[in-house]
Amino acid sequence: MEFSLKTSAPEASRSACQIITVSQPRKLGKSGQRVDRTSKGYLSAVMKRGDMDGKPGQTLLLPAVPGLNSKRVLLVGCGKDSDMNERVFTKVVGAAMTALQVCGAREAEIYPADITLKGRDLAWKVRHAVMLAGNSDYRFNACKSGKAERPTGIRKLAVVVDKAGAAAARQAIAQGYAISAGMSLARDLGNLPANICTPSYLAKEARALARGNKRLTVKVLEEADMKKLKMGSLLSVGAGSRQPSKLIIFEYRGAAAKEPPIALVGKGVTFDTGGISLKPGLMMDEMKFDMCGAASVFGTLKAVSELELPINVVGAVPAVENMPDGIATKPGDIVTSMSGQTIEILNTDAEGRLILCDALTYVGRYKPRCVVDIATLTGAVIVALGKVPSGVMGNNRALINQLIKCGQQIDDKIWELPLWDEYQDQLKSNFADMANIGGRDAGTITAACFLSRFTRDYKWAHLDIAGTAWLGGDAKGATGRPVPLLTQFVMNQVEA
Ligand code: BES
Ligand code: MN
Ligand code: ZN
Repeated sequence: MEFSLKTSAPEASRSACQIITVSQPRKLGKSGQRVDRTSKGYLSAVMKRGDMDGKPGQTLLLPAVPGLNSKRVLLVGCGKDSDMNERVFTKVVGAAMTALQVCGAREAEIYPADITLKGRDLAWKVRHAVMLAGNSDYRFNACKSGKAERPTGIRKLAVVVDKAGAAAARQAIAQGYAISAGMSLARDLGNLPANICTPSYLAKEARALARGNKRLTVKVLEEADMKKLKMGSLLSVGAGSRQPSKLIIFEYRGAAAKEPPIALVGKGVTFDTGGISLKPGLMMDEMKFDMCGAASVFGTLKAVSELELPINVVGAVPAVENMPDGIATKPGDIVTSMSGQTIEILNTDAEGRLILCDALTYVGRYKPRCVVDIATLTGAVIVALGKVPSGVMGNNRALINQLIKCGQQIDDKIWELPLWDEYQDQLKSNFADMANIGGRDAGTITAACFLSRFTRDYKWAHLDIAGTAWLGGDAKGATGRPVPLLTQFVMNQVEA
């Protein structure tokens, strides 16, 4: 979808469709009132007749409103002003986009200033509307045969604000667009099946992302390179797979070379069978999404490049396939990580931490200002927090607080779990420096405890996105989270 900015008067619009909000009871916003006046009270009359109450998400399409030059008006209910919040806002934009899917308009105008949302300025509303609209027409058709369905809905959305708001709105449109583009990329990579989206495929896509992008470079470490670096832990995970493992390194240079980068490390298990500790069959197909942490690094780097942010970012993606095989790693095997610490692999299904630990050691060479890893790491995070927030833990209070704040800012929620020392005892091994699992209790925390042993040299936070990176059931598919959170984080670091 394309986005543009207009500062023209709503009553003079020649748009194919004006999206006009109605709050309860039957109240128009400022632009709506101006349009209503020009139409000699047509919108008011429709509401008085009882055809539009303003219930949240309710829509009514009015073709050829008398007195207007625009071809249609879409009324969208916003509920009571006092009940307006981020969720209702999301619902309102979604309802408008759905209604536009079934009408002939290919272009529309919205008036974000008409909605009053406590604690959110115009820029937020514009950015969020663009982000949501940009995601509303996402479809994954790459693997469907036959004629692709003809796209319906609008191709262009104009954001209309007054002159005073234009500068802020212009920047907000760019941000919302960049984030939605990053989310689309993350969703595409997540949704691709594991027979297509292999570690080699991810490496190829990484190079494609960097192509024609002056600030972004990619290098790919092959298994031989990783052997030289003594990444015994990472390499043990791919041992049972015919697909060679890769460590994909992105370097985004937006600032002087001497500026320490932000490092983002994303779990890229392109399929997780569990290995010899084989998973049960039920819903195992969803383990193609086990590279969504990696996908969020791709998506964030796309958004950061799109916005040409003046900051340095390193992205590290350990990409592997976790398979059972005659030479696969077995429970009880002991491996030596790049850090020199030894690990007893008691469960080959706790593989994410085994690839992350070597990638985390590797990014230490960049002397990063901070490191954030993103991983579909534990089923336990869904037990603890459900599918609403991602889990966050780390070794630096300020960094965790910043991330939580970013999540609130962009409405991509995260919630902290305690990374207390007491939990570290659960990783004791009789035979190696540590075990790769910590028993049944507090599985999300002991996974983070494991990672914490490889991140002592820098400020670090870990995001467990197992509950948020994809949806199951009828809506099965990747969500693109936490690209909004991570992009917001990088944007905020530019200012800091
Ligand atoms: N990729 C899974 C985590 C996962 C499971 C995400 C289900 C979403 C839904 C991870 O590699 C894994 O298998 N974790 C194990 C860890 C356990 C063996 C300590 C888990 O969560 O069961
Ligand atoms: Mn696993
Ligand atoms: Zn996994």
